[in-house]
Amino acid sequence: MIELTRRPRRNRQSAAIRDMVAETTLSTKDLIFPMFLTEGNQIQQPISSMPQISRWSIDLLLKEIEQCLNLGIRTFAPFPNVEDKYKDKYATESHNPDGLYPKAIREIKKFFPEACLITDVAMDPYSADGHDGIVENGEILNDATLEILGKMALTQAEAGADIVAPSDMMDGRVGYLRKVLDAKGYTHVGIMAYTAKYASSFYGPFRDALNSAPKFGDKKTYQMNPANAKEALLEAQLDAAEGADFLMVKPALPYLDIIKLLADNFPLPIAAYNVSGEYAMIKAAAQNGWIDGERAMVESLTSIKRAGAKVILTYFAKEFAQWLKK
Ligand code: PBG
Repeated sequence: MIELTRRPRRNRQSAAIRDMVAETTLSTKDLIFPMFLTEGNQIQQPISSMPQISRWSIDLLLKEIEQCLNLGIRTFAPFPNVEDKYKDKYATESHNPDGLYPKAIREIKKFFPEACLITDVAMDPYSADGHDGIVENGEILNDATLEILGKMALTQAEAGADIVAPSDMMDGRVGYLRKVLDAKGYTHVGIMAYTAKYASSFYGPFRDALNSAPKFGDKKTYQMNPANAKEALLEAQLDAAEGADFLMVKPALPYLDIIKLLADNFPLPIAAYNVSGEYAMIKAAAQNGWIDGERAMVESLTSIKRAGAKVILTYFAKEFAQWLKK
């Protein structure tokens, strides 16, 4: 036997000790469940690139939310799948108070006032061009887009949104939304800023779910370059100064360093979006028998939290809650 004063394995020798010394624990309170909404009644449309995830009509979405609440998931981020006939250059439908999305928000808050609703502020689900801003001669207009985002956020706040989440990456939108909301008395409505949102290949399945892929070009003139970290600090400084209540990093797993960077440097809660492509990769590998999907889910979510995320938006939310129960 060799003489070793320090044997780290002692603290790994039983489940009781391992759990006692665990530095990171995950709970359903940490999770936000993104969900897809569609027109109609009794509609469930499974999304082929996202096993176990569907688009729901409002009536079935309510049932799904009720199940999640019973499992301890309390925060939801619905996204609307908008029919093509409602899409135009200016995303006009996005601020129609009788549209699918505000209607769903009102219904959810009516039946489940205790649920926290985070609504998406961006033009792409409503844009005929599939972009997050107004397109003019192939360019994305920044300041003109803010006006539409302001109307959209107000419509969502009026419908009962607890937190609005601008996912568009236009400059100045957090400050602009704060001003618009406050002017109408919505000082209690929070802003979760998509602060460091990267131009990522991992959004593919989400764009299938919403049929929202850009009709031309890409999103590189507004979403961040995956090569950059300091720029995330700049975005975070701006969003914090403009009044954001949460700073988000998106995607999550390829950007754990950015999560840590923001968590170390800002006193605001950091959110991480474990996006559709990250979900799809684990599901695909698990379906092939190449990895243990359940363990990969828990390991990924734990790693995102360990990196410094206070909350995680994840399509695994319900499955994780079910896994915790057993
Ligand atoms: C767009 C938006 C995207 C996602 C959330 N909001 C995609 C995009 O920027 O094209 C992606 C989420 C995911 O992949 O799970 N405003």
